[in-house]
Amino acid sequence: MVKVKLTTTIDSDVLVVGLGTVNKKLQIQSGAAQVDSNALLLSLNAMAATGKVDEVIKLPGKTTKLIVFTGIGKIESTFNPEVLRRAAGAAARALAGNKSATFALPHKSVVEIAAIAEGAALGSYSFTQFLGSSKDEQRDPLATVNIITKFADTDAAKAAAKRAEIIAGQTFLVRDLINTPPSHLTPDSFCLRMKKEAAKYGVKVEIINDAALKKGGYGGIIGVGQGSANPPRLLHVTYAPAKAKKRFAFVGKGITFDTGGLALKPAAGMEAMKADMSGAAAVIAAVFAIAQLKLPIAIDGWAPLAENMVSDTATRPSDVITIYGGKTVEVLNPDAEGRLVLADALIKAAEVGKKAGGLDGIIDVATLTGAQVVALGSRTSAVMTNNDVFSNQFLQAAALAGEAFWPMPLPVELRASLDSPIADLANIGDRMGGMLVAGLFLKEFIDPQTPWLHLDIAGPAYNEKTAHGYTPVGGTGIALRSLICLAELASSQS
Ligand code: BES
Ligand code: MN
Ligand code: ZN
Repeated sequence: MVKVKLTTTIDSDVLVVGLGTVNKKLQIQSGAAQVDSNALLLSLNAMAATGKVDEVIKLPGKTTKLIVFTGIGKIESTFNPEVLRRAAGAAARALAGNKSATFALPHKSVVEIAAIAEGAALGSYSFTQFLGSSKDEQRDPLATVNIITKFADTDAAKAAAKRAEIIAGQTFLVRDLINTPPSHLTPDSFCLRMKKEAAKYGVKVEIINDAALKKGGYGGIIGVGQGSANPPRLLHVTYAPAKAKKRFAFVGKGITFDTGGLALKPAAGMEAMKADMSGAAAVIAAVFAIAQLKLPIAIDGWAPLAENMVSDTATRPSDVITIYGGKTVEVLNPDAEGRLVLADALIKAAEVGKKAGGLDGIIDVATLTGAQVVALGSRTSAVMTNNDVFSNQFLQAAALAGEAFWPMPLPVELRASLDSPIADLANIGDRMGGMLVAGLFLKEFIDPQTPWLHLDIAGPAYNEKTAHGYTPVGGTGIALRSLICLAELASSQS
């Protein structure tokens, strides 16, 4: 687990500074550290450095073993915190093999320090659990990131450093779970791992097993999970501080592996479907982070967990299932499984929320559709809603978190495509606008009075390309920081 420390002096062997451009001329920005810019710029220009984002250059230092230049792009009077977050993260990634580094990046306020601290911490990640003979060749990520700043003694900066540690810790939990292969991550083992974590933060845990799900009438989770030897679960975690200002429910899709079921996916790319539990991991870890930050917001986290497999007990196309609460669904395509497990959990979350005094909002997070990736690419997630005020507040939180989310509509005319001749609803509709159709399906399981957000993170949850900024290859942890920021925004409201 990475440590974040504040400092006023260069207290490690490695110094990280910013490199950007002003009118196309290279400029070093070393924040609170003094460096010999003129001499260094001669070398940097000679090596055709650009100062672009994600460029990292290492040179021998004068007072430190290494001086590392990380791209901050065009230098303006104030920095976009996300540029700093990424610059710190790219440098941290490039420094694996070192124990610690001192980050001297430009900043004028604690908001920017917070971004630098977060980026440096988030970039200090590796996943080595499954390395055998090649484990020794592995260079460990930074264990400590030192942030050099003249604000080091302020309470606000200290809180930002602590918060960065919490965010990195929970992001690493999400990434670890996503990266863990389905041979080692089942609905049950997911629950047990989260239960162990929850105990550290005083978060309450309830695990509903397959027998109880069957008895309770959770036809969505059972229907999706019944083809697997690894039985399904519904995980429920609760953080309920004494004087909560608001109460939210977070619901995350937890398919530990999605083969597509009898609508079997092609082999090419199926391996990425180990990431189909990214929403579940993000929402549960968000509850932990919110508990660690002691925010005055009550949260229920729900993770419907199942493995979508092919077998003689798998749900067939044309099977009808009954969702918790009584709505029936004709399963025309067993590969549209996420919406089925979410439907059960959304109804249950609303029921429990109502008993606790009512929900101020319900948010589901899911790697739900390939159509999301087609529409927005692999780095921008979608937000759908029944309440624009809530959605705008979330988008504000996401912007603060540095996570790219974009609003998408739920057009009423697409709803009819989900009609079934024999059940209340079919689980697939029009192929065109598939992301929106999936959102409309979920909307059927939402009380119109409750503000609701549906976050489709299909592309951004799992990075199949190359590492960038603070984002490694594999599980990214997307949505976690936005959920935390939303709870923070809600805490600061009356
Ligand atoms: N888990 C997939 C969606 C997905 C696709 C996530 C690519 C990440 C990357 C989901 O369960 C699925 O298979 N969706 C189908 C729905 C279709 C059958 C209506 C899809 O998008 O093709
Ligand atoms: Mn699927
Ligand atoms: Zn899926």
